[in-house]
Amino acid sequence: MQLFKSKATPDAEGYFETVAAAVVQPGELTAVTINGRKLLLTRYEGHVYAFSAQCPHAAANLGDGWLSRFKITCPDHEYCFDVRNGRILWPADENYRLKLFVAKEDNGVIKVKL
Ligand code: FES
Repeated sequence: MQLFKSKATPDAEGYFETVAAAVVQPGELTAVTINGRKLLLTRYEGHVYAFSAQCPHAAANLGDGWLSRFKITCPDHEYCFDVRNGRILWPADENYRLKLFVAKEDNGVIKVKL
């Protein structure tokens, strides 16, 4: 019985391998966990975006939210964020920001830098 999961290690450039590139599709959220950190992946206009699954407002799971083009809406209080740059879209008078991570497609795999 394995009690502890082994820690993933990054490549020489600091990227962690996540899932096959074909899994990450526009309009869909793909949940991945890297060393206990929960992230969401999506694709928009050919680019892959990675961001924390934890809403910056009150820590709801954005994986249960709604994605429309580049806009993720939180399921708890419906704050909206732009996955391309992390900026809040609604409500405009709040300063919360989505935590983004650098992501790239490399040899058919999505890699993320933490
Ligand atoms: S927890 Fe996400 S908007 Fe409040």
